[in-house]
Amino acid sequence: MTGSYVAAIDQGTTSSRCIVFDRSGRIVAVDQREHRQIFPRPGWVEHDAGEIWAKVQAVVAGALARAGLSAGEVSALGITNQRETTVLWDRATGKPVHNAVVWQDTRTAALCHELGGAQGPDRFRQATGLPLASYFSGPKAAWLLEKVPGLRRRAENGEIAFGTVDSWLVWNLTGGTDGGVHVTDVTNASRTLLMNLETLQWDPAILSALRIPEAMLPEIRSSAEVYGRATGKLAGVPVAAALGDQQAAVFGQTCYRVGEAKNTYGTGSFLLLNTGTRPVASKNGLLTTVGYRLGGEEPVYCLEGSIAVTGALVQWIRDQLGLIRSTDEIEPLAASVPDNGGAYIVPAFSGLYAPYWRSDARGVVTGLTRFVTRAHLARAVLEATSWQTREVVDAMYQDSGVRITELKVDGGMTANGLLMQHQADVLGVPVIRPVVSETTCLGAAYAAGLATGVWDGPDELRTHWRRDAEWTPSMPAEVREREYRNWRKAVERTFGWLE
Ligand code: G3P
Repeated sequence: MTGSYVAAIDQGTTSSRCIVFDRSGRIVAVDQREHRQIFPRPGWVEHDAGEIWAKVQAVVAGALARAGLSAGEVSALGITNQRETTVLWDRATGKPVHNAVVWQDTRTAALCHELGGAQGPDRFRQATGLPLASYFSGPKAAWLLEKVPGLRRRAENGEIAFGTVDSWLVWNLTGGTDGGVHVTDVTNASRTLLMNLETLQWDPAILSALRIPEAMLPEIRSSAEVYGRATGKLAGVPVAAALGDQQAAVFGQTCYRVGEAKNTYGTGSFLLLNTGTRPVASKNGLLTTVGYRLGGEEPVYCLEGSIAVTGALVQWIRDQLGLIRSTDEIEPLAASVPDNGGAYIVPAFSGLYAPYWRSDARGVVTGLTRFVTRAHLARAVLEATSWQTREVVDAMYQDSGVRITELKVDGGMTANGLLMQHQADVLGVPVIRPVVSETTCLGAAYAAGLATGVWDGPDELRTHWRRDAEWTPSMPAEVREREYRNWRKAVERTFGWLE
């Protein structure tokens, strides 16, 4: 251990952030930059992985400068990242061979349908914990191998590397073409549809079904161990953790006990429940996923309710509809009316994820009359987030028998008090936000600090967690259930739109 600080990089769907934490888990400095969203066709979403790497380097430099620190004062670096987004690059040049295909992209819907065949979307569920859906990385890689001329042959020859964003960053951070290590962690690997949840290794039968050459895959490692040493601004600092952003939030929220759950409100929302050291199969549309694995310890599994679009709906009404000028405007606008005026918006922009997994779903607005104003629509936008969360909480209870008694929340939308109150109302349980709501970065920093001896263990990390705000339910049960029925009617209208 060289210094008293731990740095974390959070490479998210819309921006990259670097945060430096001190030994008590407090934020010392932050830097953040957005990157371009590329929409080549309806339903397609891409990122430029080269731009992402450049932005990551810039935020690392920015955060260190703001903290007034040099690499020698940083003990460890942790990585957390948007999951499933798929990068393929040339090992010799270090250049991506195509734009990254983002998790929200639906181009592989037909391929997934074909792969399911007679067994349908659950063909690989027992092995991977996931349904065959366009969300996951394996079909995205299969699509690229099929469509980019000459790529399959080069991949079979070992010239091409596959990675989720953690792999791409760790490879570049540890030297890239000059000795970069090609690894991924179990949490990210558990989102590819290619990893077996029991063995925690790539599943040969699935690789062969998707025609993915093993030569292109990274080595699967734990979420907290030293993968290599950083180069550049953090030269010499151990790169000591990687976790998908939602699993990192579980870790940062210190949900280390069975039955503890958190919901992170970002571009989408992701509710994860710690189910312990054995995977729990879902019968109600949830995912079984690895929560974290610390070095050689047993892995911890989670059930996850993934919602593709929550915060992105607020951005959409700002950028595509112009209903608001900045995302801060939505709360006062929505609060200017007492209810949604009968309007419901179901943002099925990437189909619907949990608990439906319908790639044929498309977004709808229901209940329109001339009475409805932009303020009612703003309210319906916020309520879409809490109703989608209610659906996954219900599925979680059906799958696990665990009835959550409170929900720990984090992410950008938790600054919206109106939304958090509605969330507590529709769940009927208190919603609690911690002081450090940057839980994804915090989780990656914690894991990196555990791997390098900055902290002793999870019990010490628990003592850092502090409550900042709490919302308690106040909506009468009959109102809640009536509105929930309306929401579900709106959801039914989203099905069956894919040609
Ligand atoms: O699975 C997708 C998720 O990891 C994206 O998270 O926070 O970048 O929207 P976020």
